[in-house]
Amino acid sequence: MSSDLLNKVCLVTGGNGMLGQEHCLALLEKGAIVYSGDINVTENTRFKKNDKYHAHYLDVTSENSIQNLLNNILMKEKRVDVLINNAAIDSKVTQANTIELSRLENFSLEQWNKEISVGLTGAFLCSKVFGNFFAENSGGVILNIASDLSVISPDQRLYFKKNLIDKNKQPVKPVTYSVIKSALIGLTKYLSTYWLNGKVRVNALSPGGVFVEQPVDFVKKIEKLIPMGRMARIDEYRSAVQFLCSDDSKYMTGQNLIIDGGRSVW
Ligand SMILES: NC(=O)c1ccc[n+]([C@@H]2O[C@H](COP(=O)([O-])OP(=O)(O)OC[C@H]3O[C@@H](n4cnc5c(N)ncnc54)[C@H](O)[C@@H]3O)[C@@H](O)[C@H]2O)c1
Repeated sequence: MSSDLLNKVCLVTGGNGMLGQEHCLALLEKGAIVYSGDINVTENTRFKKNDKYHAHYLDVTSENSIQNLLNNILMKEKRVDVLINNAAIDSKVTQANTIELSRLENFSLEQWNKEISVGLTGAFLCSKVFGNFFAENSGGVILNIASDLSVISPDQRLYFKKNLIDKNKQPVKPVTYSVIKSALIGLTKYLSTYWLNGKVRVNALSPGGVFVEQPVDFVKKIEKLIPMGRMARIDEYRSAVQFLCSDDSKYMTGQNLIIDGGRSVW
């Protein structure tokens, strides 16, 4: 399975983040040459001894930064085959005791612009630069990392704090998360039909929440919303990434693969 990823050159944006590292490992497992592009390029011991892994500075909000990285990859590898648009700003905006900044009524335009510029504009810019390269050369794959919240609305009761009497101070999942993730599905569909030469496949992966020792109360509540009764383990998206980035999915484009323990079915 997925042997065609051997020595394929892949870029994972936000590759130094929690799931970004998993996507890098998924591709490395299949023999790919992996570039992690992130604003955070601290040395990562998980990849230390792997000479097929390269960490580069990348700011997905800057077209220059994206073009520079493409040029660097091409200079070294002479090819590039896969782009995973994974970078995002973790949109938890809670500020206890003052006003609750994650709430719609308090959500600032500045915060809106900041999050949209990474999660959505960043995916657009990377797709523009890499997608055009794929279309004009030997083809490629774009994978947009969305979320189960690309197809369902956040259940704000998950974030409700019992000890907070003032309902105007209750934290919520910010509006930007839903907007960005839904828009990534639109971007996926648009791009999948844009280059009509069949050389560029574009799909989305919509993961459900990963268990990372969140507060017990939150975990209990979210488990009740998931038919399989649990959050995802961190490595449970690796095989989907391998499938979507390789020829195993060669007749698939414009789709959103939702892997969420069934949450979006209820
Ligand atoms: N964690 C989950 O449970 C979960 C569930 C569903 C979807 N997702 C999605 O998966 C993706 C990764 O999530 P995560 O939990 O690993 O987040 P994370 O915060 O751990 O990683 C995000 C990475 O993006 C990088 N980044 C931020 N701004 C950037 C920029 N301008 N240019 C380049 N890189 C930048 C950060 O430095 C970070 O390394 C996101 O798109 C997220 O929405 C996560």
